[in-house]
Amino acid sequence: MNTKFVLNGGESMKYAIETNNLVKIYDNNFKAVDNLNLYVENKSIGGILGPNGAGKTTTIKMLTCLIPKTSGEAKVAGFDVSKEPDEVRNRIGMVPQLVSLYKDLTVRENVELCADFYNVDPTIKDKKIDDLLELVDIKYAQDKYVKQLSGGMQQKTSVVASLVHSPDILFLDEPTVGLDPTTKRVLWDLMVDLNDEGRTIILCSHDMYEVDKICDNINIIDTGKVVASDTPQGLKDQLLHNMEENNNLIRESILKLEEEGLEENKERINGLKSSLTDESEKVTVMLSNINEDMINALEDLKVVNEVKHLGNARLNISLKRSETSVNDVITTILANGGNIASIKTNDPTLEDVFVAITAKSRKAIKDGN
Ligand SMILES: Nc1ncnc2c1ncn2[C@@H]1O[C@H](COP(=O)(O)OP(=O)(O)OP(=O)(O)O)[C@@H](O)[C@H]1O
Ligand SMILES: [Mg+2]
Repeated sequence: MNTKFVLNGGESMKYAIETNNLVKIYDNNFKAVDNLNLYVENKSIGGILGPNGAGKTTTIKMLTCLIPKTSGEAKVAGFDVSKEPDEVRNRIGMVPQLVSLYKDLTVRENVELCADFYNVDPTIKDKKIDDLLELVDIKYAQDKYVKQLSGGMQQKTSVVASLVHSPDILFLDEPTVGLDPTTKRVLWDLMVDLNDEGRTIILCSHDMYEVDKICDNINIIDTGKVVASDTPQGLKDQLLHNMEENNNLIRESILKLEEEGLEENKERINGLKSSLTDESEKVTVMLSNINEDMINALEDLKVVNEVKHLGNARLNISLKRSETSVNDVITTILANGGNIASIKTNDPTLEDVFVAITAKSRKAIKDGN
């Protein structure tokens, strides 16, 4: 029994979503979700990442009571999805991966249908619909049939329909796929605003920038299991930490082989050396007033491996990673009269994390672990 699995309910509820060994086996015997233990804190924005076919949509479908689970437990807003599906449905909104609107009804008719389904108070219904249509900028098309809309316009309609009953928890399954950059931003702002109002957002996405930008916490799912769970920064820090540990192990092996001093070890040593990952932090600084004193002062810093002066106004600096190393560089540049226009580092991105973690979990499966 997982000790984190506690039903609180109401305002004091810790988790909006909690699953305990949740399993989904489809009719063809395929296990799409495999003992999944997933937690999303109440009133947070929780990202769900995972490769194609990882089981994200299947999980969301079980959490939104669209398909039954095979075994395990799942609670949404403190209610059991199998035993109390109506309680769950009343508190959730869903923007599905594939838009599911009535194509022969207009935008407004679709939204009204949802409002009526959820018994939205008729005295506030019209105003609520107007506000939401305006919010995502689709009001101008409210009398168009859905079949006449572009993909992005359908997606916006789908979002409005999912919000019309003011759900506490909103599930969005790849909501910004195919949207233009401006509309994407409208949706991101909307998700953040809804979260500020105290709603929980569950966002499934392949857009790493989007997830990094708006999610408080991320669960990475692969082959139906959670393989990593942390804040976006926490995941990046873990990646750096793992890289360091891996390099340390390789260095230890190299040292042992070198101590043996055997001729036949040479090839293995070279192989191990080439598999060391570059741990240094690369910083690119664009600035004016580059001078020799500045470069000498930078080269004298303990944390600096190498300084390259490129073009008129660019320094490429290789650093040993530490919490203060970039700070030391900035201070030194400023102390030598530099005017910094921009600084970029090669910190790992969420995409690096995703690739590393899913490659690891796939390898583990291949190796039969
Ligand atoms: N109705 C079904 N019957 C049998 N297998 C299914 C069914 N629906 C999904 N699957 C399988 O379950 C696995 C998980 O599918 P799911 O749609 O949950 O993945 P996903 O993580 O959402 O992927 P994507 O990123 O491509 O949307 C896949 O291997 C898929 O083929
Ligand atoms: Mg999916």
